[in-house]
Amino acid sequence: LTAAARLPIGVFDSGVGGLTVLRALRSAMPAADFIYLGDTARLPYGTKSAHTVVRYSLQCAAVLVERGISCLVVACNTASASSLDAMRLQYPNLPVIGVIEPGAAAAVAASVSGRIAVIGTEGTINGGAYQSAIRRLSPSARITAAACSLFVALAEEGWTEGEIVKSVARRYLAPIFRSEAAADRGPDTLVLGCTHFPVLVPSIRAVLPEYVRIVDSAKTTAAAVVRHLGGASTGPSSGQAGRGQVTWLATDDAARFARVSSIFLGASLSVGAIEIVDL
Ligand code: DGL
Repeated sequence: LTAAARLPIGVFDSGVGGLTVLRALRSAMPAADFIYLGDTARLPYGTKSAHTVVRYSLQCAAVLVERGISCLVVACNTASASSLDAMRLQYPNLPVIGVIEPGAAAAVAASVSGRIAVIGTEGTINGGAYQSAIRRLSPSARITAAACSLFVALAEEGWTEGEIVKSVARRYLAPIFRSEAAADRGPDTLVLGCTHFPVLVPSIRAVLPEYVRIVDSAKTTAAAVVRHLGGASTGPSSGQAGRGQVTWLATDDAARFARVSSIFLGASLSVGAIEIVDL
């Protein structure tokens, strides 16, 4: 292993939602070490302007780069949508991997009809990054995009199942997937373009026609990182064989981070393990 490959993989998100991406990365690379930064002081990114999100993203990247990382995974869809170019320009020698391209590629591969729906935050949808990434791969694709802002709050509240989340899902998604009549079928693929949405899958699935395929950009990004690193960082880590270490950083309130993280990580985190950093 080269020295660079022994460094941890840096992952950042606007907060805790990116843990869905970290979870997918860890299950794809159990031996790799990670350093995760959640910018909890400034979340949500999804309702902020692209200009502000670029500024925040560069600051998050700087903290991780300073600690030493082999590559940077931008788990936040909103940050990936607006800030990848700025980060690549700032760190030309560092591999920077976002969630948009892998999600778009998976959607194009999954869709038979070429009709694809994308949901995410306001910033992600209005910026049009998924739409252009899908069109680059499949110029004839017909894309419907919708911001589903309330899903973020519901997921952080832990309301991942039940009537309330199903009604919200119906309200957002029914207009997109209106008809099951063969002649005017809606999209056959739905891209979850937000860190928070994978935990809502059972409720989202419940309001969709059966034939719709759901593409989870957390899982597809993990696969892209594995491909990119070519196995280099998946080898033995500094920690116990087969179980890499995670260094946890947040910009505000370790207690809330620890509590809410279990929804996205599927495991509990101790408050003491979280280091608070200032950007
Ligand atoms: N992490 C954000 C995303 O994936 C969702 C939460 C936020 O708006 O900050 O777009």
